[in-house]
Amino acid sequence: MSAPNIETIVSLSKRRGFVFPASDVYGGLGSSWDYGQLGVELANNIKRSWWNWLVYERDDIEGLDSSIIQNRLVWKYSGHEQTFHDPLVDCRTCKNRFRLDKLVDVDCPNHAGVHPGEDKECSLTEARAFNLMFRTTVGAVSSDEDENALAYLRPETAQGIFINFKNVLDTSRRKLPFGIAQIGKAFRNEVTPGNFIFRTREFEQMEMEYFVRPEDAQRIHQEWIDGFQTWLQSLGISAANMSLYEQTAEELAHYAERTVDIMYRFFPEREDETKQWDELMGIANRTDYDLRVHSKKPEDAEGKRINPDSTEDLSYFDPQTNERFYPYVIEPAIGVNRTLLAVMMDAYTEKTNDKGEVRVILKLKPELAPIKVAVLPLAKNNDGIVSLAKKLKHDLQPSMRTVYDDTGGIGKLYARQDEIGTPFCVTVDHESLEDNAVTIRDRDTWEQERVGIEDIREYLQKRLMK
Ligand code: GAP
Repeated sequence: MSAPNIETIVSLSKRRGFVFPASDVYGGLGSSWDYGQLGVELANNIKRSWWNWLVYERDDIEGLDSSIIQNRLVWKYSGHEQTFHDPLVDCRTCKNRFRLDKLVDVDCPNHAGVHPGEDKECSLTEARAFNLMFRTTVGAVSSDEDENALAYLRPETAQGIFINFKNVLDTSRRKLPFGIAQIGKAFRNEVTPGNFIFRTREFEQMEMEYFVRPEDAQRIHQEWIDGFQTWLQSLGISAANMSLYEQTAEELAHYAERTVDIMYRFFPEREDETKQWDELMGIANRTDYDLRVHSKKPEDAEGKRINPDSTEDLSYFDPQTNERFYPYVIEPAIGVNRTLLAVMMDAYTEKTNDKGEVRVILKLKPELAPIKVAVLPLAKNNDGIVSLAKKLKHDLQPSMRTVYDDTGGIGKLYARQDEIGTPFCVTVDHESLEDNAVTIRDRDTWEQERVGIEDIREYLQKRLMK
């Protein structure tokens, strides 16, 4: 089973410390969220899995961490200043703003069950283009309107990679095909954010730009579409909750030749099956668009440089064929936050205990679980048990994230760990003081096994690897 809806995950997240509403003490800030003590661990584990898979386990990808604020010209030549818009309409009656292309996804605030514009009282304006980039000013300026100081918070991490293509190429001596991977925050002034952490104005991306010969682009694009489905399944996301969507010519971004989205069933409660899906990630063939537009050399049909501001040429010289050309780029781009939501939804399970009580189990892959082991003393007033349990916690902690908890009865403590996805609970009891052994309880089966304390680290490490 997986979560019946996003609301279930919202409630679990707040109750247990995965995600909290941001600025809560001041009434919150629309669609902004803070990651709590468990959420930050889960997000870090997802990012680590992505980075390990791409940068460490392969031989052809380098990492990068570029600036969030870049020269404004980056966004001029990437096309974002001109084209990174959503079509916006206002309702003269309810004074709300909507995305024209998403009207069918929302209800009219005054008339539940109908979309904005559908009721006779609705009065929508003509659509106008709204640029999604957050603006800021750099340095001590006289006015916020000072065009010379204008800068943007990056709306995607990708451009930082393109403008560093030559730096990485020259210093790493890479040959095509090779990739550059980056994880970092991105910002979009979304018109209709919402659905918890699904669409927010501040989010985190994991993007990899894979540079290839133009003739290899189609084949390699398909390889990454297949590869990412496998990686997502390794995170515990079931194939049944994923599907592929081929973007139509009208939907393709200005730079893309082909884009395939991996969709996740974020809305299982919707009756219409086609509306249950939304984008988890996109995998685009961006052609040579980006490297060309940031280069000083390419000219338009009239012989004019398309980029008179660039000081570099981001082409590639192939020493085997003695050819110089602009590589094509295959880009798998995925949000950390959406991945975290999909992972939590898919891991969500309910199980009924002997007493007929329904318990929540978050069946996270051990690699992703925020806490790997919880050490629980059976009697918190017994000094021997407590000090043995605390010693065990400290001994295990350097090799696996371990917590000690004595704030409830054992049934309650088990239930709490199940709900946050801790794969193993270790219980220290009166017998442990005699036989130097503890009970290990499995989160998914609730089976218990007695293990000697001297073997416990190796035992847990082996089982956490599965
Ligand atoms: N460089 C290409 C690019 O940025 P995108 O489809 O706009 O492509 C990639 O974004 C991924 O980033 C999305 O598939 C999604 O997972 C995540 N993402 C985009 N906008 C988001 C938002 N407002 N909130 C949360 N995640 C978002």
